Amino acid sequence: MYNNLKFEVKEGIAYITMSRPKALNALNTETLNDLHVAFHECQKNDEIKVVILTGEGKAFVAGADIAEMCKLNAQEGRAYMYKGHAVMNQIEALQKPVIAAVNGYALGGGCELSMACDIRIASENALFGQPEVNLGIIPGFGGTQRLTRLVGKGMAKYIIMQAKNIKGPEAKQLGLAEDCVAPEDLMPTAEKVARTIMSKAPIAVAQAKVAINVGADLDMKTASQFEIECMSTCFSSEDKAEGMTAFLEKRDAVWKNK
Ligand code: CAA
Repeated sequence: MYNNLKFEVKEGIAYITMSRPKALNALNTETLNDLHVAFHECQKNDEIKVVILTGEGKAFVAGADIAEMCKLNAQEGRAYMYKGHAVMNQIEALQKPVIAAVNGYALGGGCELSMACDIRIASENALFGQPEVNLGIIPGFGGTQRLTRLVGKGMAKYIIMQAKNIKGPEAKQLGLAEDCVAPEDLMPTAEKVARTIMSKAPIAVAQAKVAINVGADLDMKTASQFEIECMSTCFSSEDKAEGMTAFLEKRDAVWKNK
């Protein structure tokens, strides 16, 4: 079903593993299509509570596919960027948390893919970067915008204009990764975070994601109003009654996702 990724669901977690070894998991059109189908499945499959996205081999994803882009004219290049943006936006809009377990090279479109996820756990071997200016282009799958929002305007320019690579530990210091761990601890750490999130009220987790993502692009007043709407959605859930009653009865809540 998939050409360049592996998809597995285990105990509520969907594992999406980028697997295109001959090109260090680079995002060609076929791979972007695979990602679109995989994340669509994550949205509609109720068994899936959290997604972990990682890469096989020494790369998370080494970028958009340079060999494919090399042949594109301006109009085709534009369509390719639209496709990349659509996939990144799809991940951001997924009503379930997505954790990137960044195992190695996360360059160009790979860095952008990790930034479209909600949380990035980096291996000490991870290498983030936006090397596009080496190729005569700029980050085109949302990197100029998402990197700026994560590390600030000055640092985003410092990284992008110099095509500066950032190792895992430094990525954590900059806020480009939320944690950085030894390579052997990468998947256990991502799974621990996933399981912690899964123990919380699913509607509340999903509403927190949308409130943060949508609110970050709004002015404070509108964002505050939006937060109230997200909170109202939580208040109308059965899980709000269950969570508060369980607290008062000094017992663990049993979530219904309703
Ligand atoms: N696109 C297509 N093929 C790629 C690729 C990419 N982004 N990255 C690596 N590959 C291919 C190489 O061409 C090579 O193929 P062959 O064996 O057929 O020659 C294979 O993967 C292995 O790569 P290397 O031999 O280069 O491996 P290395 O270990 O020596 O170097 C690397 C690893 C530093 C990641 C290096 O491969 C590299 O610099 N890759 C390109 C990184 C890059 O510039 N990414 C940004 C792409 S542009 C972009 O993403 C635009 C956007 O925002 C949308």
